[in-house]
Amino acid sequence: MTQIKELLIDQLQDLLHAETQLVDALPKMAQAAHHPKLKEAFEKHLVQTQGHVERIKAVFSAVGEKAEPKPCKAMMGLVAEGEETIQEAAEKDPMSADLSLIAAAQRVEHYEISAYGTARTLARQLGEAECARLLSHTLGEEESADFLLTAISDPILQQLALDDMGGDTNLETVGAGSGARTSPSLRRSNKSQKS
Ligand SMILES: [Fe+2]
Repeated sequence: MTQIKELLIDQLQDLLHAETQLVDALPKMAQAAHHPKLKEAFEKHLVQTQGHVERIKAVFSAVGEKAEPKPCKAMMGLVAEGEETIQEAAEKDPMSADLSLIAAAQRVEHYEISAYGTARTLARQLGEAECARLLSHTLGEEESADFLLTAISDPILQQLALDDMGGDTNLETVGAGSGARTSPSLRRSNKSQKS
């Protein structure tokens, strides 16, 4: 086996173990989520993740290797942190709890995006087109999941900013003279999006 192929197999083994752990973790995240869209996003990503496990097995077979996992300590750590977040979320305001769940989930997505990007680069270097195509497919789904989590977090964050400002009372004082209809904190969070 070439050195690059060895590197690829190593990445795939790590990813197989990572994805398998997520299949167990995502239902707990869905259960802990308050916002219906967040719950739905976790449930949808669970179905996708089950597909990712199968797709990695297909990648192994495309390169003629046996699908074997290798303990992914990073994902074990991220999942452990996620469980901690779920426990802490139970004590929090629903919006705050949802934002902390999103933060934990996006750490996971970014880890996967990084790992799939590396694996695809190695597959392309080896000229393994089918393998690269399969990895691209999953990478796209991880990126979409990450994007969706950001989209869900934006309005929750803005609402939380209003809450932190003290809600209605502040809205009235802020509007005076400037014609502004939103609180400074809301406008700040609008501005800071994607920055
Ligand atoms: Fe995945």
